[in-house]
Amino acid sequence: ENLQPSVKALADTGVKTVPSIYVKDETDRPKVPYNAFSKEIPVIDIAGLIGERRSGIVADIGRACSEWGIFQIINHGVTKSLTERIRAEAFEFFAMPLEEKTVYAAKPGQFVGYANGSILTDEKYMDWRELITLRCFPIGSRNEDQWPRKPESFRGTLEEFSNSMLGLVRDLLGLISESLGQETQAVEKACAEGEEKVVMNYYPTCPQPDLTLGVKRHKDPGCLTVLLQDQVGGLQATKDDGLNWATVEPIEGALVVNLGDQLHAMSNGRYKSADHRAVVNSTATRMSIVVFYNPSPDCVVAPLPGLVDANHPALFEPYVYQHRHVKRMREHMEKSNA
Ligand code: SIN
Ligand code: FE2
Repeated sequence: ENLQPSVKALADTGVKTVPSIYVKDETDRPKVPYNAFSKEIPVIDIAGLIGERRSGIVADIGRACSEWGIFQIINHGVTKSLTERIRAEAFEFFAMPLEEKTVYAAKPGQFVGYANGSILTDEKYMDWRELITLRCFPIGSRNEDQWPRKPESFRGTLEEFSNSMLGLVRDLLGLISESLGQETQAVEKACAEGEEKVVMNYYPTCPQPDLTLGVKRHKDPGCLTVLLQDQVGGLQATKDDGLNWATVEPIEGALVVNLGDQLHAMSNGRYKSADHRAVVNSTATRMSIVVFYNPSPDCVVAPLPGLVDANHPALFEPYVYQHRHVKRMREHMEKSNA
């Protein structure tokens, strides 16, 4: 049971200082403001995917994956009416009183449902966000009792959005496979029956944004992530181990794509798992709606066979995704409790 006020409740009461549980160690605090936007992170126009533009798009994606592991896409085909609807309904969900949101609260040890700060319990420092994690595919994996019933259209919109985004994810996996010189289906096949989760993040205004983070620094554990953000800004990535942070520029209609640890392994280290975090600010509430595509839990992950030869030895031993994932979650919890 979470009897603590959520970050939205804190923001609504107008707290002037951040409670100490949200104050990060000095070295982890933001170095770059939320709105110092970088022009460095690639923006790729994926219009005309099935046509003569394809080889150019594949080349752009390959470069972005090896240099950054994170990029933006425009003309991706997910409609504006759908992204606006899901944003509005997510906003309505987070606007509800805490008691109504905790109906969908994450149960201990299960990484789904509504939570304040993090889906992991017992963290040393809390993140300045509320979130809800919703399993969407395969259909049998859905945590439907935690799919909000308010606003009334939420479930239908989530279904539509997750469908549309899954189509886009499959297109992107095809482009990424081709950029590695592999057949179009290579990565998707290597994920077995891949899973799709949607995480909605709500970052209320924060009285002392320099002391905390919306989401602590991390790499995504899964395969591919596609993120819908608003026009506020706050997502930051580093490609030099935290020396410099680039803030992803909000672009109306764009989606942010980033690679996770499984694509790093499947590409035999050729592609980066994006090292990233989110910062908050004192003037504007921010929201992001994030789609995660992960291998099936029992999938054996290894470098794609076509990428391993005498000159390119496998850099990763095969492992079962869920074992690695659970181990990583445990390590993460131990580290943050140290
Ligand atoms: C995340 O990486 O988990 C979320 C980042 C964001 O909200 O921009
Ligand atoms: Fe992430």
